[in-house]
Amino acid sequence: MSKLIIPKHVAIIMDGNGRWAKRRGLPRNAGHKAGIKAIEKTIEGALSLGVKHLTFYAFSTENWKRSKEEIDGIFALIRDYLKDNPVFFKEKNICIKHIGNITPFPNDLKQQLSKSEQNTLKNDKLILTFALNYGGRDEIVRAVNKIINSGKMEINYKDIEQNLDTYFLPEPDLVIRTSGEKRLSNFMMLQMAYSELYFPKLYWPDFSGKQLLKAVKIYNKRERRFGGISQ
Ligand code: IPE
Ligand code: IPE
Ligand code: MG
Repeated sequence: MSKLIIPKHVAIIMDGNGRWAKRRGLPRNAGHKAGIKAIEKTIEGALSLGVKHLTFYAFSTENWKRSKEEIDGIFALIRDYLKDNPVFFKEKNICIKHIGNITPFPNDLKQQLSKSEQNTLKNDKLILTFALNYGGRDEIVRAVNKIINSGKMEINYKDIEQNLDTYFLPEPDLVIRTSGEKRLSNFMMLQMAYSELYFPKLYWPDFSGKQLLKAVKIYNKRERRFGGISQ
């Protein structure tokens, strides 16, 4: 078997937690809880494959439309995941980051996030980013406002890139959306201009390291041309 090319940045739209739960007669938050397990398995998979950047879309700017109970449940799961894993992050040399505007989040989650980010700042094997209250459109508006406030009268694309929340990330090579939906739902549309997209049918809680390997194998069959022509 020839050597696999490992995508540098894999970004994942974790979808299907609610349907996974419904199929089992469970409340939606049981699906989100199972989704955390899938995150853990996917991180292990990324570490063993040598993926450098792994980004999870965990809460969109549109997800505020859901019930307070569901939203609070998601926030608590993210907070507890970060709180429960400092030793793992240290041992595996994982750096925690977030993208999105977390201003409206509850204080306990903001504090935990800031603590995890501070404690893992120097780690560099895997950059693990959570997209939280993230929306691609909101990110662009905030970036443009930063540029306006800096007093610039004319800009180029680099100015935009450097002011996006993702300034510290390379563009995703591979974007995975589970659950069978084939849409981006406001996730990193600019950064995805040349990403390879993969839409496995399974619900997010059924994703795993094995599924990540399958995705990477599919990625290896794609030919990225970036507007050029075949070799
Ligand atoms: C998880 O899946 C994505 C989040 C917004 C946390 P969903 O909760 O959207 O699950 P479905 O799409 O309703 O099945
Ligand atoms: C996208 O999933 C958002 C996240 C995975 C956080 P949604 O379930 O919110 O997207 P739609 O509503 O199906 O487009
Ligand atoms: Mg969904």
